[in-house]
Amino acid sequence: MLKLQRIHTPITGELTVPGDKSISHRAVMLSALADGTSEITGFLNSGDCIATVNCFRSLGIEIEERRTVHGAHVVNVHGQGLYGFKKAAGTLYTGNSGTTTRLMAGILAAQPFSSRVTGDASIENRPMMRIIDPLTKMGARIKSEHDNGCCPLLFDGVAPGDMLTGINYHNPVASAQVKSAILLSGLYAEGDTIVHEPAPSRNHTEVMLRAFGADIRHERTHAGTTTSILHPGDPLRAMKITIPGDISSAAFFIAAACLLPDSDLLLKRVGINETRSGILTVLKQMGADITVTNEKGGASEPYADIRVRYAELHGSPSGPFTIAGKLVPTLIDELPIIAVLAAFVPCITVIQNAEELRVKETDRIAAICENLTAMGCNVDDIKDGMVIYGGDKLHGANIKTYGDHRIAMAFAIAALAVDGETTIDDETCVNISYPRFFETLTRLTT
Ligand code: S3P
Repeated sequence: MLKLQRIHTPITGELTVPGDKSISHRAVMLSALADGTSEITGFLNSGDCIATVNCFRSLGIEIEERRTVHGAHVVNVHGQGLYGFKKAAGTLYTGNSGTTTRLMAGILAAQPFSSRVTGDASIENRPMMRIIDPLTKMGARIKSEHDNGCCPLLFDGVAPGDMLTGINYHNPVASAQVKSAILLSGLYAEGDTIVHEPAPSRNHTEVMLRAFGADIRHERTHAGTTTSILHPGDPLRAMKITIPGDISSAAFFIAAACLLPDSDLLLKRVGINETRSGILTVLKQMGADITVTNEKGGASEPYADIRVRYAELHGSPSGPFTIAGKLVPTLIDELPIIAVLAAFVPCITVIQNAEELRVKETDRIAAICENLTAMGCNVDDIKDGMVIYGGDKLHGANIKTYGDHRIAMAFAIAALAVDGETTIDDETCVNISYPRFFETLTRLTT
C-alpha cells in the first residue's frame, strides 16, 4: 500500500519516459520470426514485455539483454525464421499481458507443434474468442481449455503437410491485438489475408512488418481500415529497431502538468504515431497548453518532444465535452487518466463508444467510476463509458487498483491535486508498464 498527499509545487524539468510497450512486444516477436539477429534499443523492461521475452525464449529463441552507458535497455534477438521455433517444454505463461497472449496466439496457431498458453487471473478472464474465431476460420486448431472463451488456450498446431489459409475478415471491434494476431498467422497462410476494422486501431504491427520486408498494404476506407498481408511465406529480414517513449506512460505526467499550477514539463522522444496520440488532441480541445517539437521518425514510428505548460482546463464551453467514435481507439489506454483530469474540469465530460474498457486488465469503467466517486466526484457508469460531472472539490480516498497499472498511475496523479491522504492499495502493479513510475513522480515533485 502507498500513501500519497497533495503537493503544492509545480511539476517542472525534463523527462524521458520508458520505451513503448506495444512496440517493444512486436519488436521481440518480429525479430524472432526474422532471419538473423535484430538489435532493439530502448526496449521496455517491464512485466508485460518480460513475459514476451520469456515466452519466446521458451520457444527456443536466444535473446540477450544489456544496458548501454546511457541506461537504454538493448535486446538482441537471434531470429530463426518463420519455422525456427521449438515446442515449449511447458505452458507459455503470459502474465498480465493481453498483447503477448493474443499476438503470440497468431504465431502459435501456425506452428507444426502443440502449445498451451495462459496468464494471471486477469488474463484468464479476458475474452479470447475474438482471436479464436478468426484464427479457426484460417484453419487453426485452438481450444479454450475450460470452454469459456478464455485462457488457458490449447493449440494443436497445424497437421503435417497442412497449412493455414488466408482470410478476408471483418473485425467487429477496432482491436490492434486481434488485427495483429490475424496478420501474424497470415504470414504463414496460403493466399492473402485481409483484415477490415471499423476504426483505425494502433498500426505498429503493420509499420514494423513493412520495415522487416513483408509486403503489407494499408488503406483507410469509408468504413474504417483495411490491412492486407500479401506474399505470405516471404522471409523477414533482421534489423535494428529504436523504440520511442511510450505516449501511454507519458500521459500520466502530461496530465500532472495540466493539473498542477505553474508546471512546465518537457517530455523527450515520445512516440506520436497518429493511431496512438488521441490524448494530445483531446487535451488541447480541453484547453491544455501542449507543444510538439523536434518531430522525427518519418513514415515509420514518429516521435517528438512534448512540452506541457500549465493552463486552466475548460473542457467544452457550451454543452458537454464528448469523447467518442473513431477517436476512442487512439486513446483507449489513456481514458483512465483523461477521466481523472475531467473530474477537475468544471464541465460535464461524456466518454462513449469505449465498451472495450470493460475487458482490459480490469473493468476500467467500473474501476474509474468507483475511485472517482470515492474522491467525491459525481460520475455515471454508462454501458459504453461514463459521464463525469467535473469541477467539484475532490478529496483523498482509498483507491482500489484491481491490480491494474493504469488505474494505479491515474489515481496517483489525482492524489497530487486533492486535499487529504490518498492510499493506493497495490502500487506494485505499475511494474506491468512503468516500473520506475513512483521514483520518477517523486523526482519531479520534490
Ligand atoms: C494493444 C492494443 C490495445 C491496447 C493494449 C495494447 C497492443 O488493445 O488497449 O493496451 O499492443 O496491440 P486492443 O487491441 O485489444 O484494443
